[in-house]
Amino acid sequence: MIRLSKSVVGTEEVEAITKVLLQDGYLGMGKEVDLFEEEIANYLGVKRSSVVCVSSGTAALHLAVQAVARQGDEVLVPSFTFISSFQAISASGATPVACNIYKDSLTIDIEHAESRITNRTKAIMPVHYASNPVNLEKIYRLAAKYKLRVIEDAAHCFGCSYQSSKIGSFGDIICFSFDGIKNITSGEGGAIITSDEKIQSLVKDARLLGIMSDTEKRFSGKRSWDFEVVDQGYRYHMSNIFAAIGREQLKKLDTVFAPTRIKLATIYKELLCKNSSIAIPVTEKKAYIVPHIFPIRILNGKRDEIKQYLEANGVQTGIHYKPNHLLSLYSDKKTKLDVTEEIYKEILTLPLHPDLKEEDIYYVSELINRYLGYTD
Ligand SMILES: Cc1ncc(COP(=O)(O)O)c(C=O)c1O
Repeated sequence: MIRLSKSVVGTEEVEAITKVLLQDGYLGMGKEVDLFEEEIANYLGVKRSSVVCVSSGTAALHLAVQAVARQGDEVLVPSFTFISSFQAISASGATPVACNIYKDSLTIDIEHAESRITNRTKAIMPVHYASNPVNLEKIYRLAAKYKLRVIEDAAHCFGCSYQSSKIGSFGDIICFSFDGIKNITSGEGGAIITSDEKIQSLVKDARLLGIMSDTEKRFSGKRSWDFEVVDQGYRYHMSNIFAAIGREQLKKLDTVFAPTRIKLATIYKELLCKNSSIAIPVTEKKAYIVPHIFPIRILNGKRDEIKQYLEANGVQTGIHYKPNHLLSLYSDKKTKLDVTEEIYKEILTLPLHPDLKEEDIYYVSELINRYLGYTD
């Protein structure tokens, strides 16, 4: 079976975990997490204090939203995203306002988002779908015009750049995911990146049950016995075990993972781009993209058929994503997002991970082209 996605780890990660397990004597949040945050900061070229690691990308988004919005506030978000983006907003008491996407890039439709702004709108959450950070200047201009915070859902985007600057090195609040199949993994994990010192302090405390300044104590090997709590917090911190995996993965990103993902995606594009029954999402020209997933659109109504055909031929595929406004929890029964709903019927994600071989990509592309009656 050619897998859709996969955690790609080696002996380096095993040795790093073993060291934490056997030598360090502490598996919780301590030295390894401190070092992982420092290394992410160095990688992105931001201050050490700008990076806060948490237990997942969802936790990162949740703490980011909680830091800027409250019960009754609204956050603009494309419906075409993983359920995490919506859950993170509703968990903080705010309301996710489902926005449409552009048909070419599959990222938030800025004009539609603007039309949904009310006096309760506090933030916009663009999702860098398939590692594609699109229209960032326009998004930040819209935010400035309406005094909105920007929380970038950059779960797919670790290692990517925009106008030669790494995603996470600029902007308001940027959230990454390091779950098992992302561009780098820490097993599970995520990070919030912001230069806003108030937000840094809020999310650092909130990841440790709201205990004020607990992060600093843990990083110096101490505990808080007499402490103060002024805000709701969660057990969202990262453990030393997970950070140890993440540190090894970070070393491999630019040398192994990124070039491999880029090479495989380039082959897919070459083999599929001329097939008129397929549309490949248009990537932002100003961006350097390390693709986390490789979605295509099947334009002739045969998406489900072809999904089954690939499965029968040993190829796993995915559907990223079921639109959130169609889920009972978020449906208001009147929001109709035409482009989003159309794309949902067409989208099909093909296998992409660094353990795939070029011949796997040829095999998958050949199956698709053959099924759709395309010959080069
Ligand atoms: C677009 C998007 N946002 C957020 C997340 C949440 O990340 P995590 O799985 O680390 O909680 C994901 C995870 O797949 C995602 O794809």
